[in-house]
Amino acid sequence: MQYTLGVENPAPRPRNVLLIMVDDLRPALAPYGDRVAITPNVQRLANTSVLFSRAYAQQALCAPSRNSMLTSRIPDTVRLYDFYSYWRNSSGNFTTLPQYYKDHGYTTVSVGKVFHPGKSSNGNDDEPYSWSKEPYHPSTEKYKESPVCLDRDGSLHKNLVCPVDIKEMPEGTLPDVQSTEFAVKMLNDFARNDSRSPFFLAVGYHKPHVPLKYPKEFLDLYPLEKMPLPDYRRKPPKMPLVAWNPWTDLREREDVRALNLTFPFQLIPDDFSRRIRQSYYAATSYMDSLVGQLLGNLTDLGLRNNTIVVLLGDHGWSLGEHGEWSKYSDFEVATRVPLLFSVPDLVRKGPRIVKDPVELTDLFPTLVDLSGLPKLQKCPKNDLSRSVPLCTEGVNLSPLIRNPSSTNHRPRSNDIEDGSPRMTTAAFSQYPRPGIQPARDSDKPRLKHIRIMGYSIRTERYRYTEWVAFSPKNFTAHWDERFAVELYDHRSDPDENFNVAESKKHSRLLKKLSAALRNRDRVPTRL
Ligand SMILES: *[C@@H]1O[C@H](CO)[C@@H](O)[C@H](O)[C@H]1NC(C)=O
Ligand SMILES: *[C@@H]1O[C@H](CO)[C@@H](O)[C@H](O)[C@H]1NC(C)=O
Ligand SMILES: *[C@@H]1O[C@H](CO)[C@@H](O)[C@H](O)[C@H]1NC(C)=O
Ligand SMILES: *[C@@H]1O[C@H](CO)[C@@H](O)[C@H](O)[C@H]1NC(C)=O
Ligand SMILES: *[C@@H]1O[C@H](CO)[C@@H](O)[C@H](O)[C@H]1NC(C)=O
Ligand SMILES: *[C@@H]1O[C@H](CO)[C@@H](O)[C@H](O)[C@H]1NC(C)=O
Repeated sequence: MQYTLGVENPAPRPRNVLLIMVDDLRPALAPYGDRVAITPNVQRLANTSVLFSRAYAQQALCAPSRNSMLTSRIPDTVRLYDFYSYWRNSSGNFTTLPQYYKDHGYTTVSVGKVFHPGKSSNGNDDEPYSWSKEPYHPSTEKYKESPVCLDRDGSLHKNLVCPVDIKEMPEGTLPDVQSTEFAVKMLNDFARNDSRSPFFLAVGYHKPHVPLKYPKEFLDLYPLEKMPLPDYRRKPPKMPLVAWNPWTDLREREDVRALNLTFPFQLIPDDFSRRIRQSYYAATSYMDSLVGQLLGNLTDLGLRNNTIVVLLGDHGWSLGEHGEWSKYSDFEVATRVPLLFSVPDLVRKGPRIVKDPVELTDLFPTLVDLSGLPKLQKCPKNDLSRSVPLCTEGVNLSPLIRNPSSTNHRPRSNDIEDGSPRMTTAAFSQYPRPGIQPARDSDKPRLKHIRIMGYSIRTERYRYTEWVAFSPKNFTAHWDERFAVELYDHRSDPDENFNVAESKKHSRLLKKLSAALRNRDRVPTRL
């Protein structure tokens, strides 16, 4: 049946969505101004994108961040801070981003790590709610912890630093290569299918998550002697103890264990720090090459100009800044993520940079609006019943993406510009701790062991964090029982080494930031 017969301008085909989620990727990417990173494919994507230069994850841990992002609710609403509960059973029956597309006639497909696998997505990546078919996981993912990393003495280990010869790997391949091949196969199917059902394809890359395992040729891109280290590489005297994450996931690897570091503060020596950084960048370039294959196929199949492409990281990763590694904190390096939207016809010569502080909770309302689907309602404030299945705790950023005049070189006035209120001037993150002293479970406390929550607000200029008492039984923060406060001025201290919360001259500023933090006010007076 040909429905468009006799119609001069048939309704445009709804646009597809390709959502590329990268595990543990901080903006170590050329279009973010990283001078070390060699990422030509992400650069090419960025050249047709709106790039959010201040985008933040709501908790720097995979499962809470992804569940928050994909339901557009903050961790305190999803009530997941570890890996061990499924929101539909433990919090509310929230509709997810892919589910919304599925409910609107899209074919939704999950490839690789999109939801964090396991209990937090019900052991089935929230299928069938979120996905039209069974989510794909690469068969070689099961060798994640196999000793395949060649040490200098020629033996094989479970190392952190792990360049490999792909031909020597079990099954002769790697998980992200398999995911790319499967995603490309799906794109071919979509291109052939003339049922005219649009697709929502989510591709979740595992690298640069630890272990830093990647084809060894990517190491050649980064000569070790040219690998820079952060200027400030120890625990700053005014960093509160509770803020320190002891990067236990690194200590478990055999090459790190061999350094005999004392827990929790002994620093990784510079020469090994350089090797970790080198491999993080190499793993990122490996991911970049696979993104290139994905987008190359999208173009060759004629789908590129009818597909919205989004690329993001689930949270950041410390690379030795103030002596810290990995995620597990509220610091800028752990919470800041890349976030790019490439919308056909919108950006011809880019990237176009938006500096407003935004959140990953903003993805859901933004993407559905860009797709022309019905807009999401804001969730009711302080809705303790969490009974509204479909709403957002984020902000619809699509006006910032559509309207070039609302981006870049924004006037420095308060709140108002071209007559409209600002959409967002702040972004929030949080991180739980079992206690003040860094302990073996400080990085990943189980819900029942959480005693302290670190709430953090990022404005254009500042990061402000309060560590307060928290009851895991009723998920309540006790703001009056405060353990530590941090204030970092990004104008003079982008690496967050100098906590100036004690400085008397900041007392008025601290009051304002504290009020915005408690109210989770996304549009506080510009600070
Ligand atoms: C991206 O755009 C910049 C600036 O226009 C240009 O110099 C660069 O070659 C482009 N990169 C790619 C990979 O297209
Ligand atoms: C949760 O919502 C879905 C629709 O999104 C519905 O099919 C399901 O029955 C609901 N489950 C419960 C327990 O209410
Ligand atoms: C959620 O509840 C359903 C229905 O009771 C149950 O089958 C499922 O195992 C539960 N999932 C988790 C992760 O607890
Ligand atoms: C670590 O300890 C082991 C066993 O005591 C020793 O053989 C090794 O040389 C030490 N390594 C370093 C880097 O100190
Ligand atoms: C398409 O994807 C395959 C991997 O499945 C890759 O080998 C090929 O180079 C890609 N094509 C383009 C044009 O990037
Ligand atoms: C989209 O791209 C295909 C091939 O790449 C081309 O034939 C088609 O005209 C393009 N459509 C639009 C709207 O630009």
